[in-house]
Amino acid sequence: MNRIAISTSKGGVGKTSTAINLGACLALKGKRVLIIDCDPQGNVGGHFNIASEHSLAELLIDGHKDVIIEVRKNLDIITSGRKRLYNAQRELTKDDFGIFKFKERISFINEFNYDYVFCDFSPTDTLINRAALIFCDKLLIPVSPGIDAIMGAERYIEVSDEIAARGNKPIDIFGILMNLYEGRTVISGEIDNVAREKWGSKVFQTRIRKNVSIGEARIQNQTIFEYAPRSNGAKDFTALTAEVLNVS
Ligand SMILES: Nc1ncnc2c1ncn2[C@@H]1O[C@H](COP(=O)(O)OP(=O)(O)O)[C@@H](O)[C@H]1O
Ligand SMILES: [Mg+2]
Repeated sequence: MNRIAISTSKGGVGKTSTAINLGACLALKGKRVLIIDCDPQGNVGGHFNIASEHSLAELLIDGHKDVIIEVRKNLDIITSGRKRLYNAQRELTKDDFGIFKFKERISFINEFNYDYVFCDFSPTDTLINRAALIFCDKLLIPVSPGIDAIMGAERYIEVSDEIAARGNKPIDIFGILMNLYEGRTVISGEIDNVAREKWGSKVFQTRIRKNVSIGEARIQNQTIFEYAPRSNGAKDFTALTAEVLNVS
């Protein structure tokens, strides 16, 4: 089971769209995928138009295990519980070992034989993110064309090293993903170069191009493969999936 945190300190770089569309493509290839929404914004549930009574919040507060929702064949989600996730966070804060609760309570999924578990993080440094990092063993960091996205990624890698050390395990970079890429612009090329100089082969060969269908699919509560299977977005996520399957 690959446990992958999709995370960075920068918002709006494509964390949630990557979780959904990479997850959906892996599921189409026959892999068993779970996406856990760790963001009180609740965009994973929002993407599939699902507001669940039992969510990550109830799992963390009460140990509720009926939190998994099948949204597509091979593709399950756990919604965040939105505002309720703040309550869960408060509970975790009161407990000296609260940071370890996520890993402990989510362990029931081990029997479901998932190939990939993606945790979709909020961009802010929350206790929920930190607790989820102790469960995850790899980072997937989307980067958009801007120097602040590079800095956000760097900062996040430092923070996550510290947190993972508390769980007595290293956290590897699974991959850095260039998103919102526009081949014709100077900034896209420059940031792509900076990322490849900094992180070398950890940067996925595939770049997800800026593609309006990705945003439109979200509005239609569909994956890119349902909404626009012939779009550049679908092509890029298919290429990314092939790379992911190669390294995991
Ligand atoms: N490659 C892309 N092309 C066009 N729009 C994109 C792309 N990736 C993400 N978006 C859009 O950008 C916005 C932010 O993406 P999102 O995945 O929600 O980012 P995050 O989770 O990092 O905040 C969303 O409206 C999303 O649909
Ligand atoms: Mg998001």
